[in-house]
Amino acid sequence: MQQRVPPTVTWADVEGGVVRMIDQTKLPGELVMLDCREVECVAQAIERLSVRGAPAIGCAAALGMALAAHRSQADDSDALRKDLRTARERLAATRPTAVNLFWALSQMDRAIAEHEGEAPDAMRAALLTRAEEIVEDDLQRCVAIGRNSLELIPEGANILTHCNAGALATAGYGTALGVVRAAHEAGKGIHVWVDETRPLLQGARLTAWELCTEGIPATLITDSMAGYVMGQGRVDCVVVGSDRIAANGDVANKIGTYTVAVLAERHGIPFYVAAPVSTIDYELASGDLIPIEERSREEVAMLAHRVAEPVCPDVAIYNPAFDVTPHELVAAIVTEKGIARAPYAGSLRAMRD
Ligand code: MRU
Repeated sequence: MQQRVPPTVTWADVEGGVVRMIDQTKLPGELVMLDCREVECVAQAIERLSVRGAPAIGCAAALGMALAAHRSQADDSDALRKDLRTARERLAATRPTAVNLFWALSQMDRAIAEHEGEAPDAMRAALLTRAEEIVEDDLQRCVAIGRNSLELIPEGANILTHCNAGALATAGYGTALGVVRAAHEAGKGIHVWVDETRPLLQGARLTAWELCTEGIPATLITDSMAGYVMGQGRVDCVVVGSDRIAANGDVANKIGTYTVAVLAERHGIPFYVAAPVSTIDYELASGDLIPIEERSREEVAMLAHRVAEPVCPDVAIYNPAFDVTPHELVAAIVTEKGIARAPYAGSLRAMRD
């Protein structure tokens, strides 16, 4: 497995333990590591997208809980539990759409319950072990997704992707870019069309950087070019990640994904979703129940130069961070357990952990 992008988010044994992450707000200009010594730092890093992408947010939150335990001054188990509850509440309030955040926190809840009543140091060690298992497990799931997707990707395929569902969005390897990496490593001679992904340009800043760093052929386009390129017959399939998949197969992902799915259907191009089972929310019947994060007006109003407000400072701005693609537009969902196809209610249920 080729891997030249450094680990997205890890634990580092310095200064009593820190959560170390690539500060993705600085990419692609600078590759800078951010060390968080407090839970508040991890929470703010998630909020401002220093660490982003559904699985990576989950990993950061799990490590954040371990950090809370390590930083807590508590010398009895009740006091430590109280500090952990406060940390959990803060982390859970960071971003609403990616279900992996809540999945990872519930995994940490389970570890806390399993070690109930143990001395604080034993709890600290147990939470760090569990958080590191979540990170390692995510990496393995991504590699399995890549392996499972190989039969979907033809030789010489031109793959279009939206946002960044790569190593940077996971513990490593990526989901949608895990599919890309696996096909590249298998010698399929693929090429990737990278949507720039407005407003925050995760495609232009992060996916283009990741693919370029690893020598995978890629071409960056603006979001508005995707339909034209499809119309030219230059896209063989679309592969995206997801922040939350409802039980019926509706897929929440970065804003603009739905547009790409509609364009793909218009051009008869298969639209694939790659995600670990931890992204499936079995409690939600359909995508209209998925909470869609709304972010600040600044993100739409600013580009390298301010594009809207100078002429009309009060212009209304709507900035939903995600959209939902109806399951009818999804040709297949690839997970670490295999390939799910419609009807998704049954095929996704069969993959439940
Ligand atoms: O706002 P972001 O950058 O966190 O959005 C990320 C995405 O939409 C990804 O496609 C999704 O989280 C899947 S990451 C494997």
